[in-house]
Amino acid sequence: MLEQLRSLEEEALAALAAVNDPEALKEWRVRYLGRRGALTTLMRGLGKLPPEERPQVGQAANRVKRALEEAFAEREAAIKAAELEAQLAAEAVDVTLPGRPVALGRLHPTTQSLRRIYEIFSDMGFQIYDAREVEYDEYNFGLLNMPPHHPARDMWDTFWINDRVLLRTHTSPGQIHAMREFYPNPIRVILPGKCYRYEQVTARSEFMFYQVEGLVVGRNITMADLKGTMENFVRRMYGGERRMRLRGSYFPFTEPSVEVDVDCVLCGGKGCRVCKYTGWLEVAGAGMVHPIVLRNGGYDPDEFTGYAFGMGVERPAMLKYRIDDIRYFYSNDPRFLAQI
Ligand code: DAH
Repeated sequence: MLEQLRSLEEEALAALAAVNDPEALKEWRVRYLGRRGALTTLMRGLGKLPPEERPQVGQAANRVKRALEEAFAEREAAIKAAELEAQLAAEAVDVTLPGRPVALGRLHPTTQSLRRIYEIFSDMGFQIYDAREVEYDEYNFGLLNMPPHHPARDMWDTFWINDRVLLRTHTSPGQIHAMREFYPNPIRVILPGKCYRYEQVTARSEFMFYQVEGLVVGRNITMADLKGTMENFVRRMYGGERRMRLRGSYFPFTEPSVEVDVDCVLCGGKGCRVCKYTGWLEVAGAGMVHPIVLRNGGYDPDEFTGYAFGMGVERPAMLKYRIDDIRYFYSNDPRFLAQI
């Protein structure tokens, strides 16, 4: 029986060495260590041995059993490790692979232009005041010194909602809202926002565009304040070397009225197609707030004076980036938007 045990151990260990997968491992265990396995069967014969042989054979049998169990555990661990390794290799992630680029959003060119304007006027102590886009005709025209049938109304082609309500054609009606809110305090605000005009859409004009209005009201405000403010704005917006001029003009809500011109950023004043060979570009309308408009806002024109201005927002961006068609701004083409 000792001989049988030895050859069983040998056979079992040899068979185990050939086992390479969990399935075969399980079969091996059933065959050699199972309840009806070879070793168990052999050990059942123990009882038939003469009593004096039993202890020795019993010890040997137990040793073989432990040896096989140990060998099994070792093999099992080895197979598991190999499996894990194979799985790791199969599922390996190459962390050195460059990531996929994330598409970054950006600010719309109009927003960039607006924020630059806000920055410059904030530095000069201006607050930003929001006013409505849907207006009464009274605010858009009447209170700005353009009563019904005033010929100056023809300067703005209007989208009417009904015979009293319209889409504002300029940001100037915000002046009245600001004055009525701030009276009797001094005012220094800019009023940015969308304006609408019932116009043929072309490379030069959209039916919707942005303006930034400015309004300053106080005691002893003069044209010199307007000029200084505009000069500072122009230099910071268009470059320190720029020259500015005020040219007499007409608006119903300012008296006197001017156009603010800057020497052409493209030709430096020599004359080119962009400035129509004048050497100058128009950047804003402006003037001293008309006494009637001051009064409509609640301010006594004998005590208060003020200046106002209104400028485009897309136009400076067009000059800066040489955009030759205003329609690009609001046609939502990312190929255009991604360039600026
Ligand atoms: N509202 C004028 C326009 O849309 C621009 C303008 C001119 C605004 C003179 C002003 C101003 O405040 O004083 O054409």
